[in-house]
Amino acid sequence: MSGLAQDKLASVDLKNHFWYKNAVIYNLEVSAFKDSDGDGRGDFTGLTQKLDYLSALGVDAIWLAPFQPSPGQDDGYDVADFYAVDKRLGTGGDFAEFVNQAQIRGIRVIMDLVINHTSTQHQWFQEARKSKTSKYHDWYIWSDKLPKDYKVGMVFPGYQEAVWSMDSVSGQYYYHRFYQFQPDLNYANPEVVREAQKIIGFWLNQGISGFRLDAVPFIIEIPKGPGNNPKLDYKFLTDIRQFAQSRKADVVILGEANVVPEENLNYFGKGGEGIQMMFNFYVNQFLFYALASGKLEPFKKALVETQIIPDASQWAHFLRNHDEVDLGRLTEKQRNEVFEKFGPDKNMQLYDRGIRRRLSTMLGNDRKHIELAYSLLFSLPGTAVIRYGDELGMGDDLRLQERISVRTPMQWTSDKNAGFTTADTAFRPVIDFGEHDYKKINVAAQTRDSSSLLSWTTTLIRMRKACPEIGLGDYTVLDTGSPDVLGLRYEHNGKSVVILHNFSDQPQQTNFSVKGADILYDLINNDDKKPVAGKYNVSLKGYGYQWFRVNQLIPN
Ligand code: NOJ
Repeated sequence: MSGLAQDKLASVDLKNHFWYKNAVIYNLEVSAFKDSDGDGRGDFTGLTQKLDYLSALGVDAIWLAPFQPSPGQDDGYDVADFYAVDKRLGTGGDFAEFVNQAQIRGIRVIMDLVINHTSTQHQWFQEARKSKTSKYHDWYIWSDKLPKDYKVGMVFPGYQEAVWSMDSVSGQYYYHRFYQFQPDLNYANPEVVREAQKIIGFWLNQGISGFRLDAVPFIIEIPKGPGNNPKLDYKFLTDIRQFAQSRKADVVILGEANVVPEENLNYFGKGGEGIQMMFNFYVNQFLFYALASGKLEPFKKALVETQIIPDASQWAHFLRNHDEVDLGRLTEKQRNEVFEKFGPDKNMQLYDRGIRRRLSTMLGNDRKHIELAYSLLFSLPGTAVIRYGDELGMGDDLRLQERISVRTPMQWTSDKNAGFTTADTAFRPVIDFGEHDYKKINVAAQTRDSSSLLSWTTTLIRMRKACPEIGLGDYTVLDTGSPDVLGLRYEHNGKSVVILHNFSDQPQQTNFSVKGADILYDLINNDDKKPVAGKYNVSLKGYGYQWFRVNQLIPN
């Protein structure tokens, strides 16, 4: 960013200025959300019908998984045309109606931007393989010989054989960081960079507010291919952010980059000139370790290690997403502890690093533990991203392959196929067995039950929104006097909140001081606390949590 642009930004309060600093983002797949035309697959019109539901839940933005035409070999993450809507999900008109109706409700729409690779069926790859003189040939990465390290760097071990595969048409090997049907694009070629900008510009013109940028560390490897000793081109991130902002000032780019804390500022940019947001995968893994083991120290350390980011940047925190829980950054011992607790069967584990289950099944459908996890998520420093169905406690279907287990149709009612479709057969089976059967867990039942998880989540989101300090403020990890209890204090513009979480299933007693606090107003239980000899003593039930506002119950 130029010095001038930087100065201009500095003249506004960066923390307050950007919507993505303090938001609730709801992630869904259009195909799995709601079918409007009875063909068994969800569509944009169905999603539009459900916007009032999302509005009532309190979401600020919807993150759409890929919806462009695709052979669907990686559930849409293998795009065959970047400039269209998959016909099975609706027309361009249906998409525009959806965006319009979302805007009317003040809900922004973010979409997946999968530009590291294309499908092998994309026209560009089809042209590229036919002739070395085609301009598209150099849009991909080729080698005449099979590189020695053709098995190094696979993302899906056990399901992927190599990162270089022979293309029978060109007679050359092509590079693919992911599955064989996902050839990587060559960003060393300026034409490819320009095309990525066009894709961004196109969707911004369709009313999109931002992008979840897929596979960021792999996009910026230049040159690509492990044997090439690639360097990471962070400037690419600044360039596309600047391009996107030149078209829409308040756009957000939310990066999928599972990196170590030392790397964070390379992605955010030291002055915040990189991508605005990143998923905090690092904290997520230690959070799961804390949930599984009850041991908090590594989680606290991860929070502190990821604390310093530029003012305009923001973390996206999440519990579960559409992939496996990735535990790759834990030690083997830590990972095994999580496996043992949350994914003991081989069939629950994936790619030697993760667990392919939803939160509710991992936590044994234990309401208290689920509440702890979600209360924690909404109190973490950043923006919260939730996954469709988690607000109901939906389960998973381990009979489905790889990560599809956590992508089953949304459970709306106890009618046939969960009210997801009127077709006899849904495109993917609804969960109709066990504790997570749609007849037991569905929106209709939970809507009119004030003690349901859905009602609880809605209240929690409202409470989070009343505490903007969490997204906008500075925070300290409190010494709570109990090894089982995490205490976070946020401060912003003279206002402050204190939030406690007990990771143990046993009651715990805390004893802590909060500088400048005369009283802690209890935001949940009407049980305000005054200090005794300068210290607060708060008892928490097993898996209990408490949200307090400091000194003012209703801040000015
Ligand atoms: C990351 C996505 O989250 C995952 O679902 C996908 O398979 C890969 N990127 C490849 O696009």
